[in-house]
Amino acid sequence: MSWAKHKIFETNSMVLLVGILVVVSIGGIVEIAPLFWLKSTVEKVQGMRPYTPLELAGRNIYVREGCYLCHSQMIRSLRDEVERYGHYSLAAESIYDHPFQWGSKRTGPDLARVGGKYSDEWHVLHLKNPRAVVPESIMPGYPWLAERRLDFKDIKGNLATLRAIGVPYTEEMVENAEADLKAQVDPDGDGAEALQERYPKSQVRQFDNNPEYISEMDAMVAYLQMLGTLVDFASFDASGPNLR
Ligand code: HEC
Repeated sequence: MSWAKHKIFETNSMVLLVGILVVVSIGGIVEIAPLFWLKSTVEKVQGMRPYTPLELAGRNIYVREGCYLCHSQMIRSLRDEVERYGHYSLAAESIYDHPFQWGSKRTGPDLARVGGKYSDEWHVLHLKNPRAVVPESIMPGYPWLAERRLDFKDIKGNLATLRAIGVPYTEEMVENAEADLKAQVDPDGDGAEALQERYPKSQVRQFDNNPEYISEMDAMVAYLQMLGTLVDFASFDASGPNLR
């Protein structure tokens, strides 16, 4: 544009403002418009399932205790993160999280793939008093988790509510919520098989090694031990075959 034409913009603030709006909205349209034609921005991935009732109860305690204030659950696609924590997080891995636990601060490490990294016993000791296993730790202890009985009278309603907002819990899962919760800490009981059929890859055992009652610790450790374990990354190929 010649200088004379450009002068129109530079000497009339209103014209300049309209010009800026036109130019900026082109960028906006290019970014936003395609989203109206996409069926979903989150690609589903094989292996993802909703939380078992016990894992969900653990997740609720995770939120109650504010663990997200120090821990993220989102591995970025940067080399140092992938080398430290494992495969970068997929959007689909948070698809049943309401609200998601990506977090914005890492005082402690990312927990998106902590499942299976330590034994249950380690988690129990660590949660009661982190210094017992990591002497230099600055994480606070949560000793009451082991002492408090898990309150699960609302668990059925919790599943039903999540179902109402799109988490694919079936009628059967909602109906059996309480039975499934108890079955997950009772490996010798009758319910374990049905639970694992409803929730593939669910881990059934005494998480806190105290069979007397179902504690908040049971729920928390069950939740931590499943984080990042649902998608099989040994066979995952971001170009398509595992997406459905
Ligand atoms: C004040 C910040 C803070 C809070 C709150 C906190 N943590 Fe931590 N967490 C840390 C730090 C720092 C570490 C690293 C040292 C250690 O292992 O104790 C850590 C480590 C961990 C680890 C081990 C991770 C790994 O890969 O080694 C787990 C699991 C964990 N925290 C779970 C929790 C849970 C569950 C809660 C809530 C009940 C919680 N944390 C609350 C700071 C925090």
